[in-house]
Amino acid sequence: MSKFTKAAVIGHPVKHSKSPMIHQYWIEKYGFEGSYEAIDIAPETLDDGIKKLVDDGYKGFNVTIPHKESLMAICDEISHNANVIGAVNTVTIEDGKLHGQNTDGFGFIHNILQNTGNFEFKGKRAAILGAGGATRAIASALIGEEIEQIVLLNRTKERAEKLAEDIAFVSDIIVVEDWEKRSAVLEGIDLLVNATSLGMDGQHPLEIDLGALPETALVNDIVYSPLQTQLLKDAQARDLHTVTGIGMLLHQARPAFKSWFGLLPDVTDELTTMVSA
Ligand code: ATR
Repeated sequence: MSKFTKAAVIGHPVKHSKSPMIHQYWIEKYGFEGSYEAIDIAPETLDDGIKKLVDDGYKGFNVTIPHKESLMAICDEISHNANVIGAVNTVTIEDGKLHGQNTDGFGFIHNILQNTGNFEFKGKRAAILGAGGATRAIASALIGEEIEQIVLLNRTKERAEKLAEDIAFVSDIIVVEDWEKRSAVLEGIDLLVNATSLGMDGQHPLEIDLGALPETALVNDIVYSPLQTQLLKDAQARDLHTVTGIGMLLHQARPAFKSWFGLLPDVTDELTTMVSA
């Protein structure tokens, strides 16, 4: 059997994906024989596109917009984590069968661990802005780390309520209209995470009064373009610890690489600088 391992990211559009840069860096760094490319598959050709990857002997692939939810029905087996999140971002192909998992939560936790060195999630109180797929991944990962409490802040109440019902852990839901009035909700919060698209290049900035956050609080934005979002700048102006979002993208790629190449790769400063550029 050939030692050459083929992997890819599928999406539509996919050409701006940073995943090829990340995986190609690791393939070269660790001396594997393999390839990782971006493959554009339109939603209407998803089944055929995936069949072709299987027939062409791919070991697996990452999944990005708009296919993450569709893969739930296509995979032969879904990990517990992906089931909770309702989306697959990594597929491994074994004997023609598709195994789907979701590594976003791993990426979130390990980004914070690597960049704080010692952040202890256990027993802490977290507030998450947003109630989309990213929040699902983050909230379930935080539960796995024995977080004490999660408060959700979202524009659409129903979406936050559905999420709270699915993960059965959320202690409070704040709708965005109340958000500025009730920034008091940040009192006693140890970890504040922006998991909305606010603050991303081309989007409105996220404006929230951080005055009530304790001075020991950590603020993380999963938006990584720009790297230093307004939220992070506001937090730094208050001398709070901050972690940017680029590491979540890098760390979520590690278990995928391990599934295909058999080695859990490191996120080096060189890789971070390269992907942040
Ligand atoms: P992802 O899978 O990356 O989490 P998503 O499912 O589209 O993406 O979720 C985006 C999140 O950003 C949602 O919480 C969304 O709020 P709604 O549930 O009300 O849609 C939030 N969001 C996006 N644009 C926003 C805006 N202009 N103001 C407030 N929240 C916004």
